[in-house]
Amino acid sequence: MIARDHAPCRVVVLISGSGSNLQSLIDASSQPDARFKIAAVLSNKPDAFGLTRARNAGIVTQSISHTAFGSREQFDNSLADAIDQHQPDLVVLAGFMRILTPGFTARFSGRMLNIHPSLLPKYPGLNTHQRALDAGDTEAGATIHFVTADLDGGPPVIQARVPIKPGDNAASLAKRVLEREHQIYPLAVSWFAEKRLRMHDQHAWLDNDLIPIDGIPFN
Ligand code: GRF
Repeated sequence: MIARDHAPCRVVVLISGSGSNLQSLIDASSQPDARFKIAAVLSNKPDAFGLTRARNAGIVTQSISHTAFGSREQFDNSLADAIDQHQPDLVVLAGFMRILTPGFTARFSGRMLNIHPSLLPKYPGLNTHQRALDAGDTEAGATIHFVTADLDGGPPVIQARVPIKPGDNAASLAKRVLEREHQIYPLAVSWFAEKRLRMHDQHAWLDNDLIPIDGIPFN
């Protein structure tokens, strides 16, 4: 029997759409030296393309449509129970387009990460790229953070920056940012799997260092 400490970190990924970030995690988890394994992929959208990506990689999938529930709490409870069936060490939100209840975020506190396509704390919520363009920003980016009850407000872990170029629109900027997203998510999940990354007292720590307020810069 393999001791639990030596087993790969079990990750459950939640998606709602294309799943390109999921794909970057699948690819990283299939490297010979990977320290994490994707135990299951769950979606609130039955037709999410990410489910196909997961099935192609032989990963267990489940879709739980939020439309089948009478309240946000009921959906979140059912989702949380489904996640726990897979005994994850870490829950990864990868384009999971739902606002989470405090009960849900508390249940996975310190073991749930999200990726957000902005330089948090700027632009929590939706339409981040258009908002950066409208504000005349010269840079955009993406941030991985621990999830707390505060929407897109949990402690940042790592942040990647890209330039905003003349002539950019929301689509061209999203594409540039997404390329960086695919680099930083596997890195953050690997840190967690190696037990180097943790949340303590509402702050993120890497090894014994407090992570800066806007995350570790990734270049
Ligand atoms: C990404 O931009 C992510 O930052 C945001 O939703 C998008 C998901 O893209 N939360 P994908 O489904 O991983 O391709």
